[in-house]
Amino acid sequence: MEPAPRLAEAVGLRPENLWLKRDDLTGLAAGGNKIRKLEWTVGAAVADGVDTLITTGAPQSNHARLTAAAAARLGLDVVLVFPGARSAPEGNLLLDDLLGADVVWAGEGSLDAVAAEAADRCRARGRRPSIIPFGGSNAVGAHGYRIAAQEIVDDRPDVDHVVCALGSGGTMAGLVAGLGADRVLGVHTGAVYDPRVQVAGLLADMGEVIDPAALRIRSDQVGDGYEVLTPGWSHARHGSTVRGARPRPDLHRPCPRRTRRGGARWLDRSR
Ligand SMILES: Cc1ncc(COP(=O)(O)O)c(C=O)c1O
Repeated sequence: MEPAPRLAEAVGLRPENLWLKRDDLTGLAAGGNKIRKLEWTVGAAVADGVDTLITTGAPQSNHARLTAAAAARLGLDVVLVFPGARSAPEGNLLLDDLLGADVVWAGEGSLDAVAAEAADRCRARGRRPSIIPFGGSNAVGAHGYRIAAQEIVDDRPDVDHVVCALGSGGTMAGLVAGLGADRVLGVHTGAVYDPRVQVAGLLADMGEVIDPAALRIRSDQVGDGYEVLTPGWSHARHGSTVRGARPRPDLHRPCPRRTRRGGARWLDRSR
């Protein structure tokens, strides 16, 4: 955890009351929150003797990039299945390529079906594939964020609110499992159709009975949809219009599509 006193003041909080959980510093291929889930899902796959990881996501998926990084670190093959047609190798797609990922473009097809076909092709070649779920979010992966919740409480026992981006839902599910529904605010990024059903379903799979209506989820930062940047994103990025603060009040560089939506919602809330 790292204090963010200038950002806190810029949005009207006491300087000691805002902390960042630096899960962007998780150490593998530019870091990010997905590592906490991959630690468990890939750990289970490796224990099963798997030699190829397959996963799905949007072309700029952080989860896909970190799955490729985990595979590279462990000496496994990796297949990433993305929707649509081949696009320019930039951002995470470029990193996927550098990490040695085999990218399959699914066109208009179902990502899950194309991933299953890729797994069949691997098996036909005598390989042992494992399909890591979208966003790394299942009960096994979300357990990583139950542990993160405990770390947060260990560092800040008095924590009132934990704000997270809500994509595939595993991050929020794990945090709610560890902290309770009252203390976690998820900011929906438009990655799933019904974020409340998604998070509640993951919690049920984790053995946590929580009324879906009790989950605190904001959907007002989705804008025109997943992967489409919003005006609030730009505001959260610069911070310069927030109560006269200078640009970039802290050095953290949040992910444009996910974390900055969470930041935008939070800036709205604190104004
Ligand atoms: C940087 C970042 N933060 C948070 C999230 C949300 O995580 P989850 O998919 O577990 O909801 C994502 C994924 O969408 C992400 O890439």
